[in-house]
Amino acid sequence: MTDDSITIRRATPDDSRAAYDLTMDAVLDYLKRNGVEWSVDRDQFFAGLGPVLDFFATHNAEWWVAEGPDGSLVGHARSIERGGLFELTEFFVRPDSQSAGVGRRLIEKAFPLGRGEVRAIIATIDARAQATYYRAGTAARFATAEMAGRPRASSADAEAARRERGLDVETSDVAAAADFAAIDEAVTGFPRTAEYPMLFETRDALLFRRAGRPVAFAFVTESGIGPIAALDPADQVTMLLAVEAWAADRGQTEIEFEVPMVNEVAMRHLLGRGFRISPPLSLFMSNKPFGQFDRYVLFAPPLVF
Ligand SMILES: CC(C)(COP(=O)(O)OP(=O)(O)OC[C@H]1O[C@@H](n2cnc3c(N)ncnc32)[C@H](O)[C@@H]1OP(=O)(O)O)[C@@H](O)C(=O)NCCC(=O)NCCS
Repeated sequence: MTDDSITIRRATPDDSRAAYDLTMDAVLDYLKRNGVEWSVDRDQFFAGLGPVLDFFATHNAEWWVAEGPDGSLVGHARSIERGGLFELTEFFVRPDSQSAGVGRRLIEKAFPLGRGEVRAIIATIDARAQATYYRAGTAARFATAEMAGRPRASSADAEAARRERGLDVETSDVAAAADFAAIDEAVTGFPRTAEYPMLFETRDALLFRRAGRPVAFAFVTESGIGPIAALDPADQVTMLLAVEAWAADRGQTEIEFEVPMVNEVAMRHLLGRGFRISPPLSLFMSNKPFGQFDRYVLFAPPLVF
């Protein structure tokens, strides 16, 4: 297939399922090339991701698709904006169309140079992706690890740990968004103002207070954990136990945390509890250093930080 036979056009929400399907083809192929076989029920996974994909379909900064001569999608790239942050959320080309310049054409539209005060990408270690992202003005800042394991903590364990640190926890709704925004502002510098309604609607939102003052939060759902943020990195041990207990109470047999590897508190705590690193690692890339990712666990599935 020659490059000329591929058309690049703006995406619409009607492209969501086809974009998801080609993304899964690219992800499964990527994992296989890295020695990992992932058996996933595509429809079930799509259903779990649904609210997030619907949100990105309507609240993106740029979303472009590459269409083959038969009208089928062969690639897509999408970005979002949060204040001065410009973040690439997805960048995928179907395996049978890779390495032919389609990615280059998509990224020029979806992640144009010069846009965003802070440019960020959660990136695979795919060589084509890496070459593209360096050309797009970003550099690898640190690796991120998917930490997977069986949740074992009981509510009693979590409560004892909380008492020891003087923390109270409550399940919040969107009325508490300002408290979450203040913590986001302090930790990453970019509150998720437009995203909070979707996050509160689709995930349980745990807000941790010390002497009444909000100091940390964790979003949790059965289809993905995060983001998790703490003003004091040392509070994360207690919070991770609370999330583990939340999942154990719901009978979940395996959970994953997407951990910035500069977050040594979370890495050591989870490794110590028997969680395992699921390869391959990913890379957190940006045009300049920002945020305090030693006290942060990413949104999962890992489309955005
Ligand atoms: C990443 C991806 C979207 C890129 O799309 P693509 O159409 O295959 O990429 P392109 O053909 O445009 O090539 C991109 C660049 O990589 C370069 N490249 C290829 N192999 C390379 C290597 N080993 N080292 C350095 N650069 C390399 C190419 O020369 C090209 O640069 P150029 O345009 O300056 O010539 C696609 O390969 C893909 O879907 N990969 C698997 C999924 C993935 O990892 N996605 C990224 C998610 S964060």
